[in-house]
Amino acid sequence: MQLFLDSADVEEITYGLEYWDIDGVTTNPRHVGRTGKQYLTALEEIAGAVDGTNKPVSVQVNPRLTDWTRIVDEALKLHELSPNFIIKVGASEDGFRAVRALADRNVATNVTLVFTVAQAWHAARAGAAYLSPFIGWKDQFGDQTEDLIANIAVGLDNFGYPTQIIAAAIRNAHQIGDAALAGAHVVTAGADVIRDSFKNPYTTMGEQIFGDAWDETPEA
Ligand code: E4P
Repeated sequence: MQLFLDSADVEEITYGLEYWDIDGVTTNPRHVGRTGKQYLTALEEIAGAVDGTNKPVSVQVNPRLTDWTRIVDEALKLHELSPNFIIKVGASEDGFRAVRALADRNVATNVTLVFTVAQAWHAARAGAAYLSPFIGWKDQFGDQTEDLIANIAVGLDNFGYPTQIIAAAIRNAHQIGDAALAGAHVVTAGADVIRDSFKNPYTTMGEQIFGDAWDETPEA
Protein backbone atom coordinates (compact mmCIF):
# COMPACT_ATOMS: atom_id res chain seq x y z
CA MET A 1 0.00 0.00 0.00
CA GLN A 2 1.36 3.40 -0.96
CA LEU A 3 1.44 6.36 1.41
CA PHE A 4 0.24 9.79 0.29
CA LEU A 5 0.40 12.91 2.45
CA ASP A 6 -2.91 14.78 2.67
CA SER A 7 -1.74 18.39 2.83
CA ALA A 8 -1.20 21.64 0.96
CA ASP A 9 1.59 22.78 3.27
CA VAL A 10 4.85 22.87 1.31
CA GLU A 11 7.04 22.46 4.42
CA GLU A 12 5.08 19.38 5.47
CA ILE A 13 5.27 17.99 1.95
CA THR A 14 9.04 18.55 1.76
CA TYR A 15 9.45 16.84 5.14
CA GLY A 16 7.23 13.95 4.02
CA LEU A 17 9.27 13.49 0.86
CA GLU A 18 12.57 13.46 2.72
CA TYR A 19 11.74 11.56 5.91
CA TRP A 20 8.85 9.30 4.96
CA ASP A 21 9.52 8.86 1.24
CA ILE A 22 5.82 9.54 0.60
CA ASP A 23 4.57 8.18 -2.69
CA GLY A 24 2.39 11.18 -3.47
CA VAL A 25 0.25 14.02 -2.15
CA THR A 26 -3.46 14.76 -1.97
CA THR A 27 -4.86 18.23 -1.44
CA ASN A 28 -8.34 19.64 -1.22
CA PRO A 29 -9.79 23.18 -1.06
CA ARG A 30 -9.85 23.03 2.76
CA HIS A 31 -6.12 22.22 2.94
CA VAL A 32 -5.30 24.96 0.44
CA GLY A 33 -7.53 27.41 2.34
CA ARG A 34 -5.52 26.77 5.53
CA THR A 35 -2.32 27.95 3.79
CA GLY A 36 -3.86 31.43 3.38
CA LYS A 37 -2.47 31.54 -0.16
CA GLN A 38 -4.27 32.16 -3.41
CA TYR A 39 -5.42 28.78 -4.82
CA LEU A 40 -3.20 28.63 -7.91
CA THR A 41 -0.20 30.05 -6.04
CA ALA A 42 -0.48 27.29 -3.44
CA LEU A 43 -0.74 24.63 -6.15
CA GLU A 44 2.28 26.03 -8.03
CA GLU A 45 4.36 25.91 -4.85
CA ILE A 46 3.37 22.27 -4.28
CA ALA A 47 4.24 21.52 -7.91
CA GLY A 48 7.70 22.99 -7.19
CA ALA A 49 8.16 20.71 -4.16
CA VAL A 50 7.61 17.54 -6.24
CA ASP A 51 9.24 18.83 -9.42
CA GLY A 52 11.56 16.24 -10.98
CA THR A 53 9.85 13.34 -9.22
CA ASN A 54 7.09 11.08 -10.47
CA LYS A 55 5.01 11.59 -7.32
CA PRO A 56 1.35 12.27 -8.12
CA VAL A 57 -0.38 15.26 -6.52
CA SER A 58 -4.17 15.33 -6.49
CA VAL A 59 -5.54 18.85 -6.94
CA GLN A 60 -9.24 19.61 -6.91
CA VAL A 61 -11.30 21.58 -9.42
CA ASN A 62 -13.65 24.24 -8.10
CA PRO A 63 -16.33 22.22 -6.24
CA ARG A 64 -18.94 24.84 -7.22
CA LEU A 65 -18.72 23.81 -10.88
CA THR A 66 -21.67 21.57 -11.65
CA ASP A 67 -21.59 21.49 -15.46
CA TRP A 68 -19.26 18.81 -16.81
CA THR A 69 -17.91 20.95 -19.65
CA ARG A 70 -16.82 23.61 -17.16
CA ILE A 71 -15.26 20.95 -14.92
CA VAL A 72 -13.29 19.72 -17.95
CA ASP A 73 -12.17 23.26 -18.86
CA GLU A 74 -10.86 23.89 -15.35
CA ALA A 75 -9.29 20.43 -15.12
CA LEU A 76 -7.34 21.05 -18.33
CA LYS A 77 -6.00 24.33 -16.91
CA LEU A 78 -4.84 22.61 -13.71
CA HIS A 79 -3.35 19.77 -15.75
CA GLU A 80 -1.20 22.31 -17.61
CA LEU A 81 0.41 23.48 -14.36
CA SER A 82 2.37 20.31 -13.61
CA PRO A 83 2.92 16.83 -15.05
CA ASN A 84 2.50 15.55 -11.46
CA PHE A 85 -1.04 16.83 -11.13
CA ILE A 86 -3.94 14.38 -10.94
CA ILE A 87 -7.28 16.16 -11.21
CA LYS A 88 -9.70 15.64 -8.36
CA VAL A 89 -13.34 15.67 -9.41
CA GLY A 90 -16.33 15.20 -7.10
CA ALA A 91 -18.49 12.08 -7.41
CA SER A 92 -21.59 13.31 -9.25
CA GLU A 93 -23.33 12.69 -12.57
CA ASP A 94 -21.52 15.63 -14.18
CA GLY A 95 -18.31 14.72 -12.36
CA PHE A 96 -18.32 11.22 -13.88
CA ARG A 97 -19.07 12.68 -17.32
CA ALA A 98 -16.09 14.99 -16.91
CA VAL A 99 -13.87 12.10 -15.79
CA ARG A 100 -14.78 10.23 -18.97
CA ALA A 101 -13.97 13.25 -21.15
CA LEU A 102 -10.66 13.73 -19.32
CA ALA A 103 -9.74 10.04 -19.64
CA ASP A 104 -10.30 10.37 -23.39
CA ARG A 105 -7.65 13.12 -23.34
CA ASN A 106 -5.27 11.09 -21.14
CA VAL A 107 -5.78 13.39 -18.16
CA ALA A 108 -5.61 11.33 -14.95
CA THR A 109 -8.35 11.92 -12.38
CA ASN A 110 -9.07 11.11 -8.75
CA VAL A 111 -12.80 10.88 -7.98
CA THR A 112 -13.24 12.37 -4.54
CA LEU A 113 -16.07 12.20 -1.99
CA VAL A 114 -16.84 8.54 -2.67
CA PHE A 115 -19.13 6.94 -0.07
CA THR A 116 -20.63 3.90 -1.80
CA VAL A 117 -19.60 0.95 -3.95
CA ALA A 118 -21.92 2.27 -6.68
CA GLN A 119 -20.06 5.60 -6.82
CA ALA A 120 -16.75 3.73 -6.90
CA TRP A 121 -17.96 1.61 -9.80
CA HIS A 122 -19.09 4.73 -11.72
CA ALA A 123 -15.62 6.23 -11.15
CA ALA A 124 -13.85 3.10 -12.38
CA ARG A 125 -16.18 2.71 -15.35
CA ALA A 126 -15.62 6.35 -16.34
CA GLY A 127 -11.87 5.74 -16.41
CA ALA A 128 -10.64 7.42 -13.21
CA ALA A 129 -7.05 6.68 -12.24
CA TYR A 130 -7.96 6.86 -8.53
CA LEU A 131 -11.06 7.01 -6.37
CA SER A 132 -11.17 8.21 -2.79
CA PRO A 133 -13.59 6.80 -0.21
CA PHE A 134 -13.71 9.19 2.78
CA ILE A 135 -13.49 6.82 5.72
CA GLY A 136 -13.17 9.43 8.49
CA TRP A 137 -16.25 11.36 7.35
CA LYS A 138 -18.44 8.25 7.48
CA ASP A 139 -16.97 7.27 10.83
CA GLN A 140 -17.63 10.74 12.25
CA PHE A 141 -21.36 10.36 11.69
CA GLY A 142 -21.61 6.82 13.03
CA ASP A 143 -21.74 5.00 9.69
CA GLN A 144 -20.26 1.55 9.38
CA THR A 145 -16.90 1.82 7.57
CA GLU A 146 -15.31 -1.60 8.09
CA ASP A 147 -16.39 -3.10 4.79
CA LEU A 148 -16.42 -0.15 2.39
CA ILE A 149 -12.89 -0.44 1.01
CA ALA A 150 -12.94 -4.24 0.88
CA ASN A 151 -16.27 -4.17 -0.97
CA ILE A 152 -15.04 -1.55 -3.44
CA ALA A 153 -11.92 -3.65 -4.04
CA VAL A 154 -14.04 -6.72 -4.83
CA GLY A 155 -16.34 -4.64 -7.05
CA LEU A 156 -13.39 -3.38 -9.11
CA ASP A 157 -11.55 -6.73 -9.19
CA ASN A 158 -14.67 -8.53 -10.47
CA PHE A 159 -14.34 -6.61 -13.72
CA GLY A 160 -10.61 -5.94 -13.83
CA TYR A 161 -10.86 -2.15 -13.49
CA PRO A 162 -7.36 -0.70 -12.99
CA THR A 163 -8.59 2.25 -10.85
CA GLN A 164 -6.65 2.56 -7.60
CA ILE A 165 -8.42 2.95 -4.26
CA ILE A 166 -7.15 5.73 -1.99
CA ALA A 167 -8.35 5.35 1.61
CA ALA A 168 -8.97 9.01 2.46
CA ALA A 169 -9.91 11.23 5.40
CA ILE A 170 -7.93 8.92 7.66
CA ARG A 171 -7.92 10.00 11.29
CA ASN A 172 -5.83 7.39 13.13
CA ALA A 173 -3.41 4.47 12.91
CA HIS A 174 -6.21 1.95 13.31
CA GLN A 175 -7.81 3.19 10.07
CA ILE A 176 -4.44 2.96 8.29
CA GLY A 177 -4.15 -0.70 9.34
CA ASP A 178 -7.74 -1.40 8.28
CA ALA A 179 -7.10 0.19 4.86
CA ALA A 180 -4.11 -2.12 4.32
CA LEU A 181 -6.10 -5.20 5.36
CA ALA A 182 -9.02 -4.22 3.13
CA GLY A 183 -6.80 -3.94 0.05
CA ALA A 184 -6.56 -0.17 -0.48
CA HIS A 185 -3.82 0.63 -3.00
CA VAL A 186 -3.01 3.90 -1.24
CA VAL A 187 -3.68 5.51 2.12
CA THR A 188 -3.63 9.28 2.40
CA ALA A 189 -3.37 10.92 5.80
CA GLY A 190 -2.36 14.19 7.41
CA ALA A 191 1.12 14.65 8.85
CA ASP A 192 -0.08 14.30 12.47
CA VAL A 193 -1.82 11.01 11.75
CA ILE A 194 1.25 9.66 9.93
CA ARG A 195 3.47 10.75 12.83
CA ASP A 196 1.20 9.01 15.34
CA SER A 197 1.18 5.86 13.25
CA PHE A 198 4.89 5.32 13.89
CA LYS A 199 4.26 5.14 17.61
CA ASN A 200 2.70 2.84 20.17
CA PRO A 201 2.63 3.24 23.96
CA TYR A 202 3.93 -0.32 24.38
CA THR A 203 6.91 0.54 22.18
CA THR A 204 7.61 3.59 24.34
CA MET A 205 7.24 1.47 27.48
CA GLY A 206 9.52 -1.22 26.01
CA GLU A 207 12.18 1.32 25.11
CA GLN A 208 12.14 2.50 28.72
CA ILE A 209 12.37 -1.07 30.09
CA PHE A 210 15.22 -2.03 27.77
CA GLY A 211 16.94 1.31 28.33
CA ASP A 212 16.85 0.77 32.12
CA ALA A 213 18.23 -2.75 31.68
CA TRP A 214 20.98 -1.38 29.42
CA ASP A 215 21.95 1.23 32.03
CA GLU A 216 22.11 -1.40 34.79
CA THR A 217 24.26 -3.82 32.77
CA PRO A 218 27.99 -3.58 33.58
CA GLU A 219 30.09 -2.50 30.63
CA ALA A 220 32.88 -4.78 29.44
C1 E4P B 1 -8.37 13.16 0.30
O1 E4P B 1 -7.95 13.20 -0.83
C2 E4P B 1 -8.96 14.30 0.98
O2 E4P B 1 -8.21 15.46 0.73
C3 E4P B 1 -9.01 14.14 2.44
O3 E4P B 1 -8.68 12.90 2.91
C4 E4P B 1 -10.22 14.75 3.04
O4 E4P B 1 -10.05 14.73 4.39
P1 E4P B 1 -10.17 15.95 5.36
O5 E4P B 1 -11.50 15.79 6.01
O6 E4P B 1 -9.06 15.69 6.31
O7 E4P B 1 -10.03 17.26 4.65
